[in-house]
Amino acid sequence: MGIDTQMYDSDQYASLNRWDSRHLNMVKSHLDLKPGDRILEVGCGRGHLTKRLRDFGADAVGIDSNPHAAARAVTSGVSTMAAESLQFPRASFDKVVSVHAIEHIPDIRGAFDEMARVLKPGGRALFVYPAEPIQGSWAIPTAIVLHRNPFKAQQVHCQWLWPARLRAIAGPAGFSHVHSEFRLLSSPQFVSLFVRGSDAPRSDLPLETRLRSVAPDRKPVGADERTPSLARSLFALLTKPALSESD
Ligand SMILES: C[S@@+](CC[C@H](N)C(=O)[O-])C[C@H]1O[C@@H](n2cnc3c(N)ncnc32)[C@H](O)[C@@H]1O
Repeated sequence: MGIDTQMYDSDQYASLNRWDSRHLNMVKSHLDLKPGDRILEVGCGRGHLTKRLRDFGADAVGIDSNPHAAARAVTSGVSTMAAESLQFPRASFDKVVSVHAIEHIPDIRGAFDEMARVLKPGGRALFVYPAEPIQGSWAIPTAIVLHRNPFKAQQVHCQWLWPARLRAIAGPAGFSHVHSEFRLLSSPQFVSLFVRGSDAPRSDLPLETRLRSVAPDRKPVGADERTPSLARSLFALLTKPALSESD
């Protein structure tokens, strides 16, 4: 499939990309971040998270298909590249992270194949993506910036994702699901953690046991990070249905 990176070729869109520090502790703990880790951030925008990972001591690089993102990058290590066509050798990263980017990728299965290819066996992959009641609900401001048309929000968020759907996409690419959760930050969002290969902990084990088995040093989820009960109910509803691979 041809890769259309034109849609994101926008200086205005790159310049609007801001840092949201609320992700950082969760990313560090779920990825079991260690100085020296080789990390790829996919769809990194101007590289705000990549920068914090580098400041921590990780050997982090970011890629984004918008050339203006690299031109306006806040750190070195950001380059212009499409997630569906990663220019890195096989098994060259310990960890992959992507925050609010996978819902933008038309060939999402191609992107997951690529992320699996560049990740070492047993490596972790963490995805943060919007929990949308209707596809594109949270993409209206971006549709206005990119297209001057709010009705193109479903072209911006061309993927409507929730944990069961993401498992159905990531599984065939070679990822095993470890954990997913629902969070309320600036907008409702899901977080899903996978490992490359078939070594994921059994899904009937308690959450902390599962997370520690792939991140032994992680701290237990703090009270401030716990999900409210209404959100937990919604999450349970959204994670239950197992979709077939053709969905
Ligand atoms: C909502 S922004 C998120 C940026 C950053 N991760 C953050 O959290 O601030 C989505 C980013 O994904 C990038 N993107 C969209 N499609 C992409 C693709 N196929 N490959 C790589 N990056 C892509 C866009 O250019 C944009 O910078």
